[in-house]
Amino acid sequence: MSMLSRRPERVFINDVAVRDGFQSEPRFVPTEDKIRLIDRLSGTGVAKIEVTSFVSPKAIPNLRDAEEVMRGIARNPGVVYVALVPNVRGCERALACDADEINLVMSIGESHNLANMRMSCEQSLSQFRQVMSLVRGSRTRVNGTIATAFGCPFDGDQPVDRVLWAAENYLNMGMQSITLADTTGMAQPVQVAQLCRQFREMFPTIPLTLHFHNTRGMGLANALAALDAGVVSFDASLGGIGGCPFAPGATGNICTEDLVHMIESCGVPTGVDLDRLLDAARELPGLLGHDVPGQVLRAGKRTDLHQRPIAA
Ligand code: COA
Ligand code: ZN
Repeated sequence: MSMLSRRPERVFINDVAVRDGFQSEPRFVPTEDKIRLIDRLSGTGVAKIEVTSFVSPKAIPNLRDAEEVMRGIARNPGVVYVALVPNVRGCERALACDADEINLVMSIGESHNLANMRMSCEQSLSQFRQVMSLVRGSRTRVNGTIATAFGCPFDGDQPVDRVLWAAENYLNMGMQSITLADTTGMAQPVQVAQLCRQFREMFPTIPLTLHFHNTRGMGLANALAALDAGVVSFDASLGGIGGCPFAPGATGNICTEDLVHMIESCGVPTGVDLDRLLDAARELPGLLGHDVPGQVLRAGKRTDLHQRPIAA
């Protein structure tokens, strides 16, 4: 690792808390609270917000209000509003709500894709081909997520060639950007650096985002490894909430405010106002009824100085 010998000009932050986070919460977050939080996030400087999923309400009951949320938010023209889509039906719903971006998701671990999407990879790819022809001519852009890219909890490590095969399939269909997702927190930093470099060599002009979970405490180390390998776009969730409901022992995404705090501390701008972000994160425990994993929220920023203790 060269430890940021070439500092990027800027990093782009995509907040996924209201999608990846809320999908697995034990209680339904009321629609108006979701809308209020998204509107608040829209003013923090994040580049994208993953607003919701157009999936089966039986699979993810917490996001059964996807249409109301998409239509209820106040859109900031500087933010890209994304919706997760698994199939043609989801695409039709996302287009009807004028999503800026559709995020198509397939796990390259066959077993995880079957558990999560109830489809084989071939079936997912066939849905995606149809989605791409539906989207053609609209203003909606499409990102393709390669989930379980760093390992499947059922099938184990995935060969790099399989990740690149999925990316090639996505790009041949016309998807404009790719996300490599560590859906169940199996990635480690050396693996991340290698995969990011191989991806960049093979697809040098394709925008690439990394999506990490902090399941085993390696989340920010993985993000730093990706950053060092030239990645400048990251998914993260406010408060560090989140987790795939179809992954044993799943835990939250890397925490947006902790990620922004780390990256900005290293001297790289993110465009995010950390204080506003922390104010938004402070709302989460009340909204969810439990504490959230974010650490800067608890400890304060490294520049927040305290009164010196009085000598005894
Ligand atoms: N939106 C809403 N409803 C949908 C839908 C969509 N995108 N796709 C399918 N459905 C409905 C069907 O109409 C059908 O409804 P019915 O039972 O009332 O007739 C039901 O869901 C089952 O449809 P089917 O096509 O047989 O799908 P399935 O049962 O094989 O499930 C998915 C496939 C993809 C819809 C489902 O597995 C899913 O929504 N998964 C999402 C999981 C997820 O979001 N995980 C976390 C994020 S990575
Ligand atoms: Zn995730």
